[in-house]
Amino acid sequence: MAQTEYIVIRAQEDGVNVIGLTRGNDTKFHHTEKLDKGEVMIAQFTEHTSAMKIRGKAEIHSAHGMVESESKK
Ligand code: TRP
Repeated sequence: MAQTEYIVIRAQEDGVNVIGLTRGNDTKFHHTEKLDKGEVMIAQFTEHTSAMKIRGKAEIHSAHGMVESESKK
């Protein structure tokens, strides 16, 4: 099954983490990608990735529109 949907994450501060969580019975972190301000990551949900957690201030663009995560403090 070809996955055609992409999620675009644009970091609005240094040190934004994009964390991939595993698909299946247990949901664990399997990958952390660190983005600095202005950096963009384009990602998909896959056989291995069922969820993503974004830590830090970023814009998250998807088929559902754009949401902004905020930084702590
Ligand atoms: N090896 C991972 C996978 O195929 C790579 C990946 C895809 C990923 N989407 C992600 C890692 C989102 C972090 C966040 O599932």
